[in-house]
Amino acid sequence: MIDVQNLTKQYAGRIAVNDISFRVEPGEIVGFLGPNGAGKSTTMRILSGYMPATSGSARVAGFDVFQQSLDVRRSVGYMPEMAPLYTEMRVKEYLRFRAELKGLSGYAMRKRVGEVMELTGVNEMRRRLIGNLSKGYRQRVALADALVHQPKLLILDEPTNGLDPVQIRHVRDLLRNLKSKHTVLLSTHILHEVEQTCDRVIMINNGRIRANDTPQHLAAQMRSTTLLHIEVDGKGDLMTDLSALPGVRKVADEEQLVTPWRRFTLRVEPGNDVRDAVLELAMKQNWRIREMHRQLPTLEDVFVEFAMNAGAPSDSPTHVL
Ligand SMILES: Nc1ncnc2c1ncn2[C@@H]1O[C@H](COP(=O)(O)OP(=O)(O)OP(=O)(O)O)[C@@H](O)[C@H]1O
Ligand SMILES: [Mg+2]
Repeated sequence: MIDVQNLTKQYAGRIAVNDISFRVEPGEIVGFLGPNGAGKSTTMRILSGYMPATSGSARVAGFDVFQQSLDVRRSVGYMPEMAPLYTEMRVKEYLRFRAELKGLSGYAMRKRVGEVMELTGVNEMRRRLIGNLSKGYRQRVALADALVHQPKLLILDEPTNGLDPVQIRHVRDLLRNLKSKHTVLLSTHILHEVEQTCDRVIMINNGRIRANDTPQHLAAQMRSTTLLHIEVDGKGDLMTDLSALPGVRKVADEEQLVTPWRRFTLRVEPGNDVRDAVLELAMKQNWRIREMHRQLPTLEDVFVEFAMNAGAPSDSPTHVL
């Protein structure tokens, strides 16, 4: 359904997408993840036929996004990051207008607009001006717009951004129901959602693909290590002392707690249990410990690991070589 080969996008000397290749098969729901500035929206815009790439090729629903961008737009339901909704139009009026632009007409058009308003929960807002809607409702209208022509492929750029938890669940159920008929590529920062919804995850950072696997496999890879959270009150360089313990791969200083307590996360090598060693160290150094627990890594930890280990911060300029 999507076939991307060596796709690159440069904006004025800055590489936003750097030679990426991936495929999405029909019927898959694929999560497109990455930190801010990673290149997700850029890739999605290109795949929807709304922006040219600098080099490489991409086929969507059998069409070339560069040569057949009109066919691509017809086959894709694209929900942009910041949906350019017409603020002076009423919800129903807007969706009918959009449906007509996408080739629907007459009774079928009106019926379909009614269906998508129902699906996305905007029915009670159908007579409101879009400009007067809350952010969450605007998101829902944008989603209704993406769905209205029953596209084979949905490309959704942060569809749950701004939605409340109930509505997020609603979108998740909606995506699951769409699965039989549609292929979905979605970006989001809610990793819990991805774990529950997506068949596969593509992680991108600094314009490059860092991982491409099922959420379960990605988390399992990290599970060869465990995490140990501790809350400690002590003097000296706690970070260095903890890092020096055998079996400890990495120590992260977590958010500041009410002083004097500090919270650390230790990444521990497989097969090691460093809890006793931490306690011995604490006794030796006269630290107090008020919490210590082990945790198996989640997809969120995988994400942070990939994001942190990618070298330069994701928004720093990557110059063309
Ligand atoms: N129109 C533009 N002109 C110049 N640079 C741009 C433009 N759009 C994006 N960029 C840059 O390209 C890089 C990738 O941006 P992109 O919007 O694709 O990231 P993203 O992964 O969608 O991030 P976010 O999670 O913040 O939405 C960033 O460094 C960004 O500053
Ligand atoms: Mg984006």
